[in-house]
Amino acid sequence: MVAVPLTAATIGIILPKARPLFQKLQGRVDRVNAIIQENLIGIRVVKSFNRQSYEERRFKERNDDLKNTALSAISLVISVMPMLNLIVYSTIIAVLWFGGRQVSAGTMGSGELISFITYITQVLMSLLMMSFFFMNLLRGSASAGRILEVLSTESEIKEAETPVKELKDGSVTFEHVCFSYPGSPEKTLKDINFHIKSGETIGIIGSTGSSKTTLVQLIPRLYDVTEGSVKVGGVDVREYDVKALRDQVAFVLQKNTLFSGTIRENMQWGKEDASDEEIIKVLKQAQAWEFVSKYEDGLDHWVEQGGDNFSGGQKQRLTIARALLKSPKILILDDSTSAVDMTTDARIQQVFKTDLKDITTIIIAQRISSIQQADKIIVMHEGKIESMGDHETLMVKSPIYREIYQSQLKGVAV
Ligand SMILES: Nc1ncnc2c1ncn2[C@@H]1O[C@H](COP(=O)(O)OP(=O)(O)O)[C@@H](O)[C@H]1O
Ligand SMILES: [Mg+2]
Repeated sequence: MVAVPLTAATIGIILPKARPLFQKLQGRVDRVNAIIQENLIGIRVVKSFNRQSYEERRFKERNDDLKNTALSAISLVISVMPMLNLIVYSTIIAVLWFGGRQVSAGTMGSGELISFITYITQVLMSLLMMSFFFMNLLRGSASAGRILEVLSTESEIKEAETPVKELKDGSVTFEHVCFSYPGSPEKTLKDINFHIKSGETIGIIGSTGSSKTTLVQLIPRLYDVTEGSVKVGGVDVREYDVKALRDQVAFVLQKNTLFSGTIRENMQWGKEDASDEEIIKVLKQAQAWEFVSKYEDGLDHWVEQGGDNFSGGQKQRLTIARALLKSPKILILDDSTSAVDMTTDARIQQVFKTDLKDITTIIIAQRISSIQQADKIIVMHEGKIESMGDHETLMVKSPIYREIYQSQLKGVAV
């Protein structure tokens, strides 16, 4: 009767103190994991900049931080053990003391005393087990809290109540679109207006940081506009079923990812049940078949994690092929041929003009030659459209375009 409340009180006092420590500990574990991951991914950069000792120091700092937090959390928890042991053994001594006196007075048999001790030990051991259980539960609940944080993050992109499933065509309209990234006070896009007819090829050019990527991200609704509206096929993108919209708008990102697996598996990301003929067709369109066909194992050729066994230009062509396999209505290429040589680039442009002329193609490029043939070119400058028109018009109308053209022409002449 005395021992049980004492045990409960000990646990009850210490565990609430340990809880915040365990939460902190979990945060420290995350920080160490993050730096390990960052260093493994960027291992070549670290080596080429000779930053090993700097990175080791950074790792040591965070790791020491983890060690210290772990030590304070765990030493608090293990201090429970001697206290509980003290309670257990004091109880046994007390039983022996009072029981022993009763045995010598003849009011209790020695067998009864032994069984009493056995019982009380069992009760106390169960209490110890319970306290172990609570301690583990505590650690577990701190981890569960972190997992729930991730799981309960809600997407800011809300589904429409009666979503539209089908894109009527590949036309794109921006009406007075303004956009700021969440948490940023600045307007990254300012009053953007334009209309693209279905099937047109559009080029977007402008210096880095002029919000080209930001602009096209609004089309597959990776972000929602802050003001104005983006319409695809005449319907506001917010009215579409998000999955249907993204299925029909293929986006080849600036930084592309291939996954470890065969070339075939990587292509089938675009369309799960694609046959070899279909895959070869898009590989040819993206000018990737010329190198894939040279592998003995062809489509079974292995792709390393991140596509590390391919050159930059080869990776770009594979990712363009993957996007084409989706047979999208709109295809967005964000600087996707930057690492492809000029001749191959020109061949890809030609395919867009002929084979794929029904697809609305939006090409962001640094090289004028990649977009010169486009029906319309948008020149971006500091989040605004500086001017818009075909190559000849812009040569007359846009000083920025002329400047880019002349600087690249010089490069070619030399
Ligand atoms: N995820 C983001 N969060 C906050 N700001 C961003 C984000 N991505 C880009 N920006 C900012 O938006 C501006 C335009 O970037 P971006 O559209 O990537 O330019 P571009 O593709 O033309 O080089 C830049 O000033 C950049 O700092
Ligand atoms: Mg960009």
